[in-house]
Amino acid sequence: MSPTCTTTLADSEPTLPTAPASTGASPKDAVRISNPPCKDTITVLPQTSQLIALLTLIRDRKTQRGDFVFYSNRIIRLLVEEGLNHLPVVSHPIETPLGTPYTGVKFQGKICGVSIMRAGESMEQGLRDCCRSVRIGKILIQRDEETAQAKLFYDKLPEDIADRYVLLLDPMLATGGSAIKAVEVLLSRGVPEDHILFLNLIASPEGIEKFSEMFPKLRVVTAFVDEGLDDKSYITPGLGDFGDRYFGTA
Ligand code: PRP
Ligand code: URA
Repeated sequence: MSPTCTTTLADSEPTLPTAPASTGASPKDAVRISNPPCKDTITVLPQTSQLIALLTLIRDRKTQRGDFVFYSNRIIRLLVEEGLNHLPVVSHPIETPLGTPYTGVKFQGKICGVSIMRAGESMEQGLRDCCRSVRIGKILIQRDEETAQAKLFYDKLPEDIADRYVLLLDPMLATGGSAIKAVEVLLSRGVPEDHILFLNLIASPEGIEKFSEMFPKLRVVTAFVDEGLDDKSYITPGLGDFGDRYFGTA
């Protein structure tokens, strides 16, 4: 898991990252970063200054939609690239143009993407950019605006999904209700839990803990674990409503 963690989720305290020397920022100026949860199924992207700068841009309420989409897409690309590292590979011998044998690796097995609509659809292009003509299924789940309870409306998935590794896409993991419902759909279609990889931009500590307790074999790749949830079950400090900001419906 990366980066190295030394505490459990339950007893983790927010820590201050070391400020990048080139920015002149001091730890006092730096954003607070939650310790990553200590489970080997959960990967938090390396907290580089570039990633924190991208997250800062999309968190900023003043960021206009065009920039929000552009910088979100850059983080999504990082998540997809990291996610692909978690798929199985087998040894693959080839010969280079110099006639030299080389033993590398190649991916083993078939994959598909599944987006949790609507916000998860924002991550489809990032997946397509890395995996040409990848199949993409959809699960429409919406949170009730008053109660934050997730409700399943619709799904359309590849028929042979049980034989594929599934990259499940949703940028926000707040209470965990939507992601849990989506995984239940996948399991009901015969997808083994350990063939599901959840790609996520921002998670709440309570959401990611609940999710990983329910599905201990399912892998999660996230860019950041935030501080918590507010009284409307929005992630805090968060970035507001991702779907509204990305699709321009705010
Ligand atoms: C958002 C988000 C997740 C969900 C996270 O979707 O994209 O799917 O909320 O919250 P949870 O972990 O508490 O379930 P929302 O239902 O607001 O719909 P949207 O995708 O249309 O924005
Ligand atoms: N959905 C969002 O878009 N943002 C949150 O903070 C929680 C759910």
